Amino acid sequence: MALCLIEVMAQSTWWRLLAFFVLMVTKAQAVENTSRCKVKNNSEKKVLSVLEPLTNQNFTAKTKDEMEEYTYVFQVCGDADGVKDAGVVQKNKDKQLVVIGNYSLTQAIKGSDWILLIYQGGEKYHEHCSQGARKAVIMISCDRTKTAGPLSVILEDRERKSDCFYLFEMDSSAVCPPIESKLSTGSILLIVCFSCLAVYLIGGFLYQRLIVGAKGVEQYPNYGFWSEIGNLSADGCDFVCRSRGSREEPPTYRGVSTEPLEEPEERDDHLLPM
Ligand SMILES: *[C@@H]1O[C@H](CO)[C@@H](O)[C@H](O)[C@H]1NC(C)=O
Ligand SMILES: *[C@@H]1O[C@H](CO)[C@@H](O)[C@H](O)[C@H]1NC(C)=O
Ligand SMILES: *[C@@H]1O[C@H](CO)[C@@H](O)[C@H](O)[C@H]1NC(C)=O
Ligand SMILES: *[C@@H]1O[C@H](CO)[C@@H](O)[C@H](O)[C@H]1NC(C)=O
Repeated sequence: MALCLIEVMAQSTWWRLLAFFVLMVTKAQAVENTSRCKVKNNSEKKVLSVLEPLTNQNFTAKTKDEMEEYTYVFQVCGDADGVKDAGVVQKNKDKQLVVIGNYSLTQAIKGSDWILLIYQGGEKYHEHCSQGARKAVIMISCDRTKTAGPLSVILEDRERKSDCFYLFEMDSSAVCPPIESKLSTGSILLIVCFSCLAVYLIGGFLYQRLIVGAKGVEQYPNYGFWSEIGNLSADGCDFVCRSRGSREEPPTYRGVSTEPLEEPEERDDHLLPM
């Protein structure tokens, strides 16, 4: 029995070690592709690593107005549409290409269920925005039903003196907060208690039956002890619940009655409804 336990424990330690190493390896891989984005700050690197499942994909969105038709291509820390250093590019009908953001100048901000990805250093405007650099802002929001939803263009804000930006939006399950266990400490304790009880009962039963060789009710673990407890609580119940009569019998009762007909049932007669 003890040997078996030790074996189980040794095995679980082994599994834990294995899980640990697997975790280490996957963790090490998990920043491999997002590390192509250059961020200023280590905490932003951590934010970016959340987006790892979205790397190596071209996400495209189209806009159309009466004058022009544009296609935007976005990649997470990769060459959008194959353009070097470009996180977001814009193409018009004639395939003229404008880099909107450079992933070597990345900013990543994380909220409870969203990540804001900002690529700066795009191509400079000719007239607008004091001829500043273009900038792409991509809002990635949690949607547990989608690995990576379609990209959509929200607006291009260029009628400003500075800090113009293109705003994009996307849904992904990658940025969702982990689902927390709904079990409270109390219910976990309860489950542990019941498991222990089950192990105790089954283990004890098997022990009594196979090793001690007990039969019938004797097979239950610590039968003597529990039956004692059972009797005691039955007595207690008896004492508390039963109406006074039977307990407050005058001590002479038994002594006086010599007849064997005096059965205990008779003493219960007064409990019956009249
Ligand atoms: C990282 O990119 C390589 C190809 O460049 C790909 O094979 C690998 O699966 C990517 N890793 C993750 C975690 O997506
Ligand atoms: C990194 O960024 C976070 C949040 O933007 C900020 O609180 C922290 O001070 C920054 N750390 C460094 C070293 O700049
Ligand atoms: C993204 O698009 C470019 C141009 O069409 C292509 O060369 C590249 O392979 C695409 N990348 C992925 C990961 O599909
Ligand atoms: C992107 O930014 C890096 C670092 O500032 C720069 O070396 C590179 O030339 C830029 N690429 C483009 C396409 O603007």
